[in-house]
Amino acid sequence: MKKAYGFILFLALALVLAACSSDSSGKSDGDSESKSGDSDSAGGKVEIFSWWTGAGEEDGLLALIDLFKEKHPDIEIENAAVAGGAGTNAKAVLATRMQGDDPPSTFQVHGGAELNEGWVAAGKMEPLDDFYEENELMDKFPEELIDLVSKDGKIYSVPVNIHRGNVLFYNMKVFEENGIEVPTTFDEFLAAADKLQAAGITPLALGDKEGWPATQVFENILLGVLGPDDYKKLFAGEIGFDDKRVKEAVDKFDKILDYANEDHASRNWQDSAQLVANGEAAMINMGDWAKGYFNNDLDLETNKDFGYFAFPETDGDFMVITDTFGLPKGVENPDDVKEFLKVLGSVEGQDAFNPLKGSIPARVDADKSKYDEYGKDAMEDFNNSRLVPSLAHGSAASEGFLTKVNQAVNIFVTQRDADNFTQALQNAASEL
Ligand code: GAL
Repeated sequence: MKKAYGFILFLALALVLAACSSDSSGKSDGDSESKSGDSDSAGGKVEIFSWWTGAGEEDGLLALIDLFKEKHPDIEIENAAVAGGAGTNAKAVLATRMQGDDPPSTFQVHGGAELNEGWVAAGKMEPLDDFYEENELMDKFPEELIDLVSKDGKIYSVPVNIHRGNVLFYNMKVFEENGIEVPTTFDEFLAAADKLQAAGITPLALGDKEGWPATQVFENILLGVLGPDDYKKLFAGEIGFDDKRVKEAVDKFDKILDYANEDHASRNWQDSAQLVANGEAAMINMGDWAKGYFNNDLDLETNKDFGYFAFPETDGDFMVITDTFGLPKGVENPDDVKEFLKVLGSVEGQDAFNPLKGSIPARVDADKSKYDEYGKDAMEDFNNSRLVPSLAHGSAASEGFLTKVNQAVNIFVTQRDADNFTQALQNAASEL
């Protein structure tokens, strides 16, 4: 073991020396027109921190990085992604680094509370108003998104995408073979689930090894029961968790869980999506990163192998999840980081990233022809729906509240004690 550490230390030293002796692109001296006079580029490295690693997650990011490298061969990129859906592990690593004043050059952060009540409130982010002005970005994003990345009148990050959280993806062959119609109400969903179960098919795939996918199902049920206005009021603390509709949502959640695969606690989101892909399960509620996973990793075709519909009783609503990147205070080469943000915020960058990621572009002027039918439908829905922020993905409420809800959901999924769960939600509300 000691030998291994010695080797790593040696390697690190060798890399540092190599980095010092050449420019940051690794180019030979001869072909570099670059930047020796540009002091802001002296560090020359942009470290991008996210949780987009592996299947279903990283394709979009890699495309964006390639595009950036084409445009800026002189700036080195370090892809510092930490695996784990919804940032399960990455957020903890990030917190340690931020507390230790060792921020990455830029990091993935959800618009809404995660950015504003988290890093901005802690004084850790640079405002980007000038950057928006200089790059004429102010009118390039929907106002609602600008609001999600703003606090006290200042803008703090650049959205790369919009994911939708209230979607059910389904195996089209399984639906057809079992004579299932797309359910729109909760009762229709239960009827379809009964029929599928009787045919020996798991109605709903769930993979809550990491907790959050179950919270996501629950938030969609809350949205269906409360409607978009009261859903927002719930997380704004204006409606209490003792409201009888919360109990109704808990009961519905309880019912739905009866239709999930038994091994849900040992699967992550990709593992559970595979159950739908191979026909063992019929449906899955997952953000539309699952669409990217189906297309790119599992080679499934949209509207041929898998279809999609809004979570029952949430048609006309759009659960917004937006991944954004900002500029932490204290990074060495802010101008290089801004170059990355510029590419990420450009039409070209968004159209390289989003068709692979399964999301739609955050920009209003992206090239629609680059997106398949799902993408086009999602863009139209976004424009015509009532938008609500996702709790499971950090936008609706503080990280402290979300952590408690995730814990409560986790206990409920195993114990199925509705009173206990409702009480735990009421207790968590003190974090709002
Ligand atoms: C979300 C994130 C998505 C996707 C998903 C699964 O929180 O916004 O981009 O990565 O987690 O990890």
